[in-house]
Amino acid sequence: MALAGVGNCASSLVQGVEYYRSKSAKTIGLSLPRIKGYSVDDISFVAAFDIDSRKVGRDLSEAISAEPNNVRTIAQPRKLNVRVSMAQPLDGVSPFTAEKIQVSAAKPSNLAQVLRDSRADILVNLTPTGSTKASEMYADAAVNAGCAFINATPAKIAGNGSWQARFRKAALALVGDDVMDQIGSTVLHRNLLSFLVGRGAHVDETYQLDIGGGTESEIALDKRRYEIKRSVKTAAVAAVVPYKFPIVAGSSDFVDFMENRRTSYFWIKGVYFAGTEFTIDMRLSLEDGPACAGLLIDAVRMVKAAKDASIAGPLLAVSAYGFKAPPRKLSESDLQTDLSWYRGSKRVVEKLPKKP
Ligand SMILES: NC(=O)c1ccc[n+]([C@@H]2O[C@H](COP(=O)([O-])OP(=O)(O)OC[C@H]3O[C@@H](n4cnc5c(N)ncnc54)[C@H](O)[C@@H]3O)[C@@H](O)[C@H]2O)c1
Repeated sequence: MALAGVGNCASSLVQGVEYYRSKSAKTIGLSLPRIKGYSVDDISFVAAFDIDSRKVGRDLSEAISAEPNNVRTIAQPRKLNVRVSMAQPLDGVSPFTAEKIQVSAAKPSNLAQVLRDSRADILVNLTPTGSTKASEMYADAAVNAGCAFINATPAKIAGNGSWQARFRKAALALVGDDVMDQIGSTVLHRNLLSFLVGRGAHVDETYQLDIGGGTESEIALDKRRYEIKRSVKTAAVAAVVPYKFPIVAGSSDFVDFMENRRTSYFWIKGVYFAGTEFTIDMRLSLEDGPACAGLLIDAVRMVKAAKDASIAGPLLAVSAYGFKAPPRKLSESDLQTDLSWYRGSKRVVEKLPKKP
């Protein structure tokens, strides 16, 4: 796989692959240890792009620990012989993080050429929230190089009809948008609300707000970028309740010393039997990078399995499983049926591509 953006999520992903390679307790912490025969051992990194002078030109195994990355160390990978290539910054730098990112003076590389030369199967986009132009640049490079594309960012790529058509025409898989962490505020909030609705309760109001210390939380101070993230998160949570009600979900502040940790506060108020009131007031604390990597480690193997089976275009089940803004929202039972192929069932549910 190739990585666009060597920040905290990319760092956790690279370190996580090393961790599962070397640990004897090989599957603890993994949602799906094997996907169509692929284990974490089968993942290898073949290309990476960034714009920061502390990362560009360095081996990926070192670049993942360069500032401003501040995610905790899981494992130190051996030298990967993958040099981080320079890309065009475009909108990858927010005014709120401009002091943290030191844009390299190196000449931007030809992205599609680097991808072709590295023989990458999949490009994972991990550029910052709000980097819509940069995300489109990578989607374009993926199509030109014959790579599947996983959009971990909130930029609308998998949810955009024209990108769907381009990937379908090129017989390449497209997955996204915006990772829904393995364990995180969105997935927990959605499940809590689903549980309450399923038990007949009526939800009157809810919010989920969080504070963190990664660059992504600092970007939340940028009103425009913060609105992008908040609207995707709110829509992802609201989708599990079959009526409209007051709801807010999203990042709210940046606390430098928290590093890559995030604390999320949940509030739910509603009524159950005979109009009796209940409230839920809850807190979740975790680290962002591993939560994102824990999901991507599944998505990347699902995309590879789809490629092996010549399944392409927008992968609806993979997107609904792991992303906040998938091209189509699926009910939990449809999702479980559609995912069964990746778990080993013989039935192929993802649609086969039309011939280009
Ligand atoms: N748990 C999570 O952390 C989580 C969950 C859901 C979605 N995401 C999404 O994942 C993305 C990455 O998050 P992160 O915490 O790793 O961010 P980060 O800020 O730590 O890393 C982003 C990296 O992208 C680089 N970059 C900026 N412009 C670039 C360009 N044009 N080309 C290549 N690289 C560029 C930066 O230098 C930095 O290294 C964000 O869009 C975020 O919304 C993260």
